[in-house]
Amino acid sequence: MSSTKVERWNRIYQTKQGFPEPNPRLTLYRSLLPARGKALDLASGLGADALYLAAAGFKTTAWDASSIAVDRLQTEASARGLALSSRCIEVQPEAFQPNQFDLIYVRHFLDRRLFPAILASLTPRGTLFYETFVQAEQSDADIPGPSNPHYRLAPNELLALCQGLKVHLFTEGYLADATGALRPCHEALLIGSKPG
Ligand SMILES: C[S@@+](CC[C@H](N)C(=O)[O-])C[C@H]1O[C@@H](n2cnc3c(N)ncnc32)[C@H](O)[C@@H]1O
Repeated sequence: MSSTKVERWNRIYQTKQGFPEPNPRLTLYRSLLPARGKALDLASGLGADALYLAAAGFKTTAWDASSIAVDRLQTEASARGLALSSRCIEVQPEAFQPNQFDLIYVRHFLDRRLFPAILASLTPRGTLFYETFVQAEQSDADIPGPSNPHYRLAPNELLALCQGLKVHLFTEGYLADATGALRPCHEALLIGSKPG
């Protein structure tokens, strides 16, 4: 990511008031995730989901390129009395080690080059939770997420990128709300685990 983009994210996190709520699908699909273990929130932003995982008992690490986001996350973790390690890093494939994490969680971030390293970094039976934007069928300036289609998944692309995982759940064009009801949206979610 260019330094301009990092600065843009820093400005966003500098001015963002309050702290976001965790992704409701983390709670909804908790039973599809490992009970415990090492978790990574990749491109965590302010890290509401990393905090949820730490509170749920995971030994949690959060990586993000924004120093402001990482600092705010660490402050929030201390205020909540949660143990969590964070790293300000522009993630490259070399950042991952094989068999490192029992859970890798990614939301609203897409760097296709990282997928082989992400999959290799899961422990046997380790789980990937990946939720991000998909390309719109027609140009629609109002849809949430990046306007550059490169940062949005093509149809069924998430399934292809996660080949080799045992898929437990895949939705595309729909996401469940907090009650479990499926709502149309321009996102995809895959939860899958590495064969043991
Ligand atoms: C849309 S935000 C999503 C944050 C968080 N996952 C969430 O759902 O709220 C995208 C995040 O990706 C981070 N990011 C972008 N490129 C990155 C890279 N190469 N390495 C690490 N973080 C990156 C940005 O700093 C930003 O915090």
